[in-house]
Amino acid sequence: MKHVTSPTLHVGIIMDGNGRWAKAQGLARISGHTQGARRVTDIVRACPDLGISHLTLFAFSTENWQRPVSEVEGLMRIFQQYIQRKMAGLRKHGVRVRFIGMRHRVPQNLRDLMEELEAQTRDCRGLNLTIAIDYGSRDEMARAAQEIAGRVVSGEISPADIDESMMDRSLDTRELPDPDFIIRTSGELRLSNFLLWQSVYSEYSFPKISWPDFTVEDLRREVADFAGRNRRFGAVTPAGLDTSPLTARG
Ligand code: IPE
Ligand code: IPE
Ligand code: MG
Repeated sequence: MKHVTSPTLHVGIIMDGNGRWAKAQGLARISGHTQGARRVTDIVRACPDLGISHLTLFAFSTENWQRPVSEVEGLMRIFQQYIQRKMAGLRKHGVRVRFIGMRHRVPQNLRDLMEELEAQTRDCRGLNLTIAIDYGSRDEMARAAQEIAGRVVSGEISPADIDESMMDRSLDTRELPDPDFIIRTSGELRLSNFLLWQSVYSEYSFPKISWPDFTVEDLRREVADFAGRNRRFGAVTPAGLDTSPLTARG
């Protein structure tokens, strides 16, 4: 596992519930995605104030290609518009943007914009914003295994050299600390292929709020809740300092 020395706070958000939000308003699913993309701007801007150094947003999974073509195309268009509209502002606010995921299946025009945004914000030293598009944790791990196997075959390394830190360095997230806190909106209680390797000691929250309704205040409350948790990483805390929530039958 990665041991980070500088104080970082990495929050991952599985932005879920756009479709149900739209349905509840009597709107088409795509309107939920449009509204969801609007929420991103506020949330990104609030991060430094909340002490968040890294924000990773799950925007589109490797499984989401199974959705109707019209919804997939709509989402790709929304991502494209988001980048076009926000590129200058993100740079101005010092936000360094990275994308994780497969990329080659993403339409060329969007891929070009993703690369441009990464290049434009490469020197930014404020918030580290990572957007997961065509991202699946299993795919990411399989690609890492392929890369490592190639190095073994070429004789550069031997199988015994493969350890956790080599895996860390072979994943799309190689430049990021592990996520401290993962929030999934909409009340679903699963990860749906998000950061499986990286989240072994993450804290979780599953607020019953659809992503288009998730506000900066909600994020503030979530981060405050996270700050009160007692993370042990498999070790023990000194007696008397343990503020574990275990009470009943404990
Ligand atoms: C999350 O909202 C956005 C994506 C997965 C792209 P959903 O579209 O999954 O919304 P629900 O879960 O159907 O409400
Ligand atoms: C996970 O949500 C992916 C994103 C939020 C981008 P889904 O809505 O695709 O996940 P399932 O299908 O409910 O597990
Ligand atoms: Mg969903």
